[in-house]
Amino acid sequence: MGNSVGDRVKIFDTTLRDGEQSPGVALSWQEKLALAEQLARLGVDVIEAGFPQASVGDFEAVRTIAKNVSGVTIAGLARCHEVDVRRAAEALDVAQKPRIHVFLATSPIHMRSKLKMTSQEVLDRVGSMVALARSYYEDVEFSAEDATRSDHEFLCQVARVAVQAGASTINLPDTVGYTTPDEYQDLVRCVKDAVNNDAVTISVHCHNDLGLAVANTLAGIEAGCRQVEVAVNGIGERAGNAALEEVVMVLSARKDALKVTHGVDTREIYRASQMVSRLTGMAIQFNKAIVGRNAFRHESGIHQDGMLKDPSTYEILSPESIGIGSTVFVLGKHSGRHALRQRLDELSLSVTTEQLDDIQHRIKALAEEKSAINDHDLEALWQDVVGRGIEAPTSELLSWQVTTGTQVRPTAHVVIRQEGGVVEDSGSGDGPVHALFQAISRAVGQPQAELSDYQLITVSPGEGGLAAARVSVTVDTMECLGQSTDSDVLKASAMALHQALSRVREKIKKGVVA
Ligand code: KIV
Ligand code: ZN
Repeated sequence: MGNSVGDRVKIFDTTLRDGEQSPGVALSWQEKLALAEQLARLGVDVIEAGFPQASVGDFEAVRTIAKNVSGVTIAGLARCHEVDVRRAAEALDVAQKPRIHVFLATSPIHMRSKLKMTSQEVLDRVGSMVALARSYYEDVEFSAEDATRSDHEFLCQVARVAVQAGASTINLPDTVGYTTPDEYQDLVRCVKDAVNNDAVTISVHCHNDLGLAVANTLAGIEAGCRQVEVAVNGIGERAGNAALEEVVMVLSARKDALKVTHGVDTREIYRASQMVSRLTGMAIQFNKAIVGRNAFRHESGIHQDGMLKDPSTYEILSPESIGIGSTVFVLGKHSGRHALRQRLDELSLSVTTEQLDDIQHRIKALAEEKSAINDHDLEALWQDVVGRGIEAPTSELLSWQVTTGTQVRPTAHVVIRQEGGVVEDSGSGDGPVHALFQAISRAVGQPQAELSDYQLITVSPGEGGLAAARVSVTVDTMECLGQSTDSDVLKASAMALHQALSRVREKIKKGVVA
């Protein structure tokens, strides 16, 4: 079955749901809303905003996005449980275009070991829960979890039941990243033929455990699926999902081969990628396709020579096509509050009056060292101010001091305010960051925590530029991330360490098992 020129593939973005399931990632509702606005600017067809029954925070985030982001379908995930479906429906009742996305596993291993359900019970449950979802909204998607390890005949039966109950999208997730492109094509064709209904969209959702997520997604398109579920920067459970930017840019650059269109404004890709990286704290590998730091850099003399003569000798995409180089320089030392508020609004970065004051104060300080503040700086400062207010309300790093040098063992001293009052502690380490970590972990009462990752990333290069410190702290199997931005790298590090360790402390206090 070939594609016909002009067929349109829907881009279903799951950065805020499957992407947020990446280990250690936790986004506040304000961060999720800012990302959803950017996804809408990017032009995706569906934003999966979250899993409303998972927690009150998830419910509120889905509801806020549903209320504020228009022109795009907003999906909420639900297990095949009545309470999940009703909760998703409630979260979405303010959406202009709501979709309930229900899922149930169909593979023998999941049905036997996880669900403890027979095949008949699965069929009945799919029928009743899709029908329940359909009683709320017209747009219902059904996903057969672990579709690629399911019996084909049974999967086709499930798909037919879901369609009869009212599902208009049937998604076939490669939940464990196990399939191969040929195998996946057979599966997509088999289900498409069984459903045999042009009004039903077949969708693919690929995980990257074997590094095949994008290849499998494209194979799905070749076999006739017309929705792809993807995440910005490929984030998601374990090795992640198919990367939105890779799938979309293949569809754009190789239209001749894939013969389908999409509705994404590719010039918004780079900004979306940077925002996701900054807000989740997940760095982008340097050689990552499309959005990695090296994706458009040419090192060898032969390549550089070719590029100077004609860029198409070594570049199949231009940096401009994904929005690199379009950074806007907007604010300086003399920019007023009104200009700042306006730019924040344009970037969909919502703030309270106090947060606006705080950001303005930080901009003035930064502008002393750097002549023009660009959007990247502004987003980083926004995240720093907004994120800190939400995430660590019960603990505040009042002051810190580090002594280091060639002949001394680095030591740090910190003063922290938390519920019990003001505490001070000290620590020493192999380097200044390690010393800060020791001091803060003792002060917040988490001396057992380990610093599992530390990265320093340039937000804006040049003298006086901002740097973001990203840290990961673990206690047994529990991981918390922290991130902070400043032109002083030790200050950024101290704040990030304090944020991650405060999150550990909060989780342990709330009884989250480490
Ligand atoms: O990977 C998966 O199976 C999923 C479903 C819930 C769609 O994320
Ligand atoms: Zn998934």
